Amino acid sequence: MVPGDKSISHRYALVAALADGESRLLNFSSGADCHSTLGCLRTLGVQVREDTTAVTIQGRGFGGFRSPAAPLDAGNSGTTMRMLAGVLAGQAFSCTMIGDDSLSRRPMQRVIAPLAEMGARIDATEGHAPLHVHGTRLRGIHFSPTTPSAQVKSAVLLAGLHADGETTVTEPAETRDHTERAFRAFGLALAVHGRTISVRGGQRATGQTLTVPGDFSSAAFWMVAAASLPGSRVEIDNVGLNPTRTALVDVLRRFGARVDIQSAGETAGEPLGRIIVEGDRTGTVEIAPDEVPGLIDELPAISALAARSGQVIVRGARELRVKESDRIAVLVAGFRGLGIAAEELEDGYIIHGGGAPAGGIADARGDHRMAMAFALAALSGQRPSTIEGADAVAISYPTFFETLERLVA
Ligand code: S3P
Repeated sequence: MVPGDKSISHRYALVAALADGESRLLNFSSGADCHSTLGCLRTLGVQVREDTTAVTIQGRGFGGFRSPAAPLDAGNSGTTMRMLAGVLAGQAFSCTMIGDDSLSRRPMQRVIAPLAEMGARIDATEGHAPLHVHGTRLRGIHFSPTTPSAQVKSAVLLAGLHADGETTVTEPAETRDHTERAFRAFGLALAVHGRTISVRGGQRATGQTLTVPGDFSSAAFWMVAAASLPGSRVEIDNVGLNPTRTALVDVLRRFGARVDIQSAGETAGEPLGRIIVEGDRTGTVEIAPDEVPGLIDELPAISALAARSGQVIVRGARELRVKESDRIAVLVAGFRGLGIAAEELEDGYIIHGGGAPAGGIADARGDHRMAMAFALAALSGQRPSTIEGADAVAISYPTFFETLERLVA
């Protein structure tokens, strides 16, 4: 079992807060990022209760948020800041959103521009947090972002719920569609034609009881661990199998692993099931630029495929430089620190396994997915390795190291 999906948990929490009535969210992500979203909602006057089985949210309905007395703290979470900006743009008050050092370095102009076109004013310093959001009555727009981003799409669609008329987003490439599925799960209508999604303002959402599937991007680390070590096998239950998230399956097969997917139906429009991966051969896998949006969170794990043997080549992935860290630079430095041959490209990297690496020291630079990728790579090491900043795993997978110990025991 892996934690509840981070992307879906954020969306369920936000839409539940906007809905009329109570929502119960089961298997909600245990990661710190989704708790940043819950913290922001509490600051907006939303009653949120957490117990061992569920997160319960008392929806305040559209327009029901309280003008916050303090800044909203998104912590390390880009999804919280960008999606919440979309919600706040349509409120009848102004507020400030802040984040940690990493989040304060990440680009926010990509949400500021469309929300400004809808009528909101968002002040930032050279496109970075803190964001001062001056909410207003919004108007629908037709928006065509140049960079594929589910966070930006979602921010605009959430703003569209608060706008006059229709709001449409046409994506340059398909990105995860959890917002679209979450809207429907809460009774909100939207129209999807290929990569064009439209939503009408003035609808009401209704509170729901929903179960979040396991996080495919967390499962990815165990899938890669098995695929990179011939003779090993993992079986993971209740994992989300939304087709906009599962491109890794094909990558692992190309690398030489056996992957079996057993569907267990759907929950609230999100497919889920069991994943079985068996390491067989190791080979070369090249990720083409058009595959990157579907693998954006799995690329750190994929790089660890070739820690011991084989090769991973990634291109067209400049977006990695503006994630929780500069994932191209941090990954290459960390792999080299562990004794693995790694080459930095402007828009990607090449990892070349040359037998069991020596092991050494890798610095995750506060980035959860870097810490987990280094841990996998270190498994192949001839001697124990040290991962600095490993506690960053709490962002998406607090029990990662417990599970790792259990799997290698
Ligand atoms: C996410 C979208 C992706 C992804 C992030 C989560 C989401 O970011 O990398 O971890 O939940 O919408 P971008 O929208 O910046 O591509």
